[in-house]
Amino acid sequence: MTSVSTFFPKLWLSIVVLITALALAPAVASAQLLPPVAPAGNPVTESKVRLGKVLFWDEQVSSTRTVSCGTCHIPTTGGDDPRSADNPAAVHPGPDEIFASGDDILGSPGVPASDDSGLYLLSTHFGLRDQVTARRTVSTINAGYSPTLFWDGRAGEQFLDPVTLEVVLNSGAALESQAVGPIVNDVEMGHLDRSWSDVISRLEMSTPLAVAADAPTALLNWIAGRTYGDLFEEAFGTPEISPARIGMAIATYERLLFTNQAPFDEFLLGADVLTPEELAGRGVFTASSCDRCHSLAIMTDHLFHYTGVRPPTDDVGRFEVTGDADDMGRMRTPSLRNLELRAPYMHNGQLASIEEVVDFYNRGGDFDAPNKDSRVRELFLTMEERSNLIAFLGRPLTDPRLAAGQPPFDRPTLYTESARVPTVEGSGVAGSGGLVPEVVAVEPPLLGNPSFTVAVGGALGGANALLVIDGTDPGLVTPSDGELAFESVVLQGVGVGQGFGSVSLALPTDASFIGRQWFGRWYVEDAGNGGTTAVSKLLRFGMFASLSQNLLMVDGFESGDTSEWSASVP
Ligand code: HEC
Ligand code: HEC
Repeated sequence: MTSVSTFFPKLWLSIVVLITALALAPAVASAQLLPPVAPAGNPVTESKVRLGKVLFWDEQVSSTRTVSCGTCHIPTTGGDDPRSADNPAAVHPGPDEIFASGDDILGSPGVPASDDSGLYLLSTHFGLRDQVTARRTVSTINAGYSPTLFWDGRAGEQFLDPVTLEVVLNSGAALESQAVGPIVNDVEMGHLDRSWSDVISRLEMSTPLAVAADAPTALLNWIAGRTYGDLFEEAFGTPEISPARIGMAIATYERLLFTNQAPFDEFLLGADVLTPEELAGRGVFTASSCDRCHSLAIMTDHLFHYTGVRPPTDDVGRFEVTGDADDMGRMRTPSLRNLELRAPYMHNGQLASIEEVVDFYNRGGDFDAPNKDSRVRELFLTMEERSNLIAFLGRPLTDPRLAAGQPPFDRPTLYTESARVPTVEGSGVAGSGGLVPEVVAVEPPLLGNPSFTVAVGGALGGANALLVIDGTDPGLVTPSDGELAFESVVLQGVGVGQGFGSVSLALPTDASFIGRQWFGRWYVEDAGNGGTTAVSKLLRFGMFASLSQNLLMVDGFESGDTSEWSASVP
């Protein structure tokens, strides 16, 4: 294993420059952000960073092959999820379980509810669509500095093997502890009761980054057509894939995602880089006690406070971890770095802009409780102070490399960001209640995908339903065959509009299927609307080959010949 310094020479050079600068300015030395410290037992190495990056961005890690860690943590939006803003598909109904009431949460869409055979279940709040997290994301950028992670700090310092529960890393390993959570969580990435042996066999059967639409060349050159076993072997010495290794690789990648090249960093080193407004805004920030909690160069005290965003009972926060009544509603202070990229704000995403956050603090928060922090109080800011504070919270805190997606913040283009996602178009035939059955297909039509699920919802419960997929539109009258699929199921659910079902198809491996369009419809035996059959709208998709296969074909390489790539690994 080569050291990380050859991997990111510029980064390490800049660190050396910083350290030199620190020596010249000892007064602020403690304020400067140095790279996060890796725990003893999981040192940063080049190959672990790369494996971690592949795992972090590979949507195949999720049960449905539609969600990677990166799906909810996009660097150019500050390591938070841009989909949370202004998007009905990202709304969680909150503790009252009613949509469009005051306690709704702007979260992140994960996976549709599914079981271990790839079939979909009906989620109470989200039906057959992607389930949504009950909190706004916390940024993965600079997460390496936090002793505990999540809004409530439930990912702690000690990393336990999630299967054996043995201690793998004794301290400083919150990133490792956190990373093994989402993969088996049935809202974020997993099916119901997903086991680690399921995750491991998924990786063993998958070509790394196969469903990504594109990826940084350096990363593809490193993968060079190899299997996950090969990549684990390079990173850990043997090809064994284990949850502990998955956690350690992802955490190692995340440890490199720190930002210390914002104007604020230069300011901390004594440079005169803030505009007069920004500088005045820093004064307001300090005078308003913001810096008491958003403290140090990282701009958080890593502690938990109740600040009156929602009543403490809405989301009990830290109380969930400690059981201490004084912790009701307390959340971990988020770092304010790269803030302007990361709207919406707060644990529930309720504040849409920096302006709204400043107004929230200016009025002393929205709710009270005995444990509310007294520093959150009415501020009586003048218009000028308000706009200066807003100016300080913007540009000065943003690292331009992050905003531009420059290495190490570069990333693959996800399948879900591509035009490969199946579309639904045209019209169908209504059944009971005047409802047209809904066709749902979100999984990647990757050549050879052993479980490509197509679901039907909003139909008559208990009815017989038939899925037909063919080379042309199978039409509004039940056809007698289908080239790609002709599968019937009895719908689950009772009553009008409550019926749902799904079929998990093994897609062919034959490359001749690429370049053709496929068309599918559901036919539901339902005479309720005067006809005999209700028919869904038209599903349309094309199959694609894995990213590496595509490149091999484009570059005219023989499959398996990676010598030219290997030679160009930086
Ligand atoms: C479906 C969206 C989603 C997916 C997928 C997802 N996350 Fe998150 N992530 C969240 C949300 C929401 C939170 C905040 C949850 C909380 O605090 O309870 C979070 C919190 C985090 C944090 C905590 C940061 C901090 O400072 O507290 C880290 C680190 C993180 N995620 C990394 C990952 C990794 C690694 C993966 C993949 C293994 C992943 N996430 C997958 C939504 C997601
Ligand atoms: C008592 C500690 C404390 C003080 C004082 C404080 N904050 Fe906060 N801040 C927090 C906590 C805790 C949160 C998260 C609250 C939540 O989501 O429920 C937060 C959230 C934020 C956020 C949202 C960040 C994100 O990632 O969503 C911004 C912006 C912010 N504070 C700015 C300020 C400013 C500006 C001031 C001064 C006017 C200030 N804070 C004063 C503790 C504090």
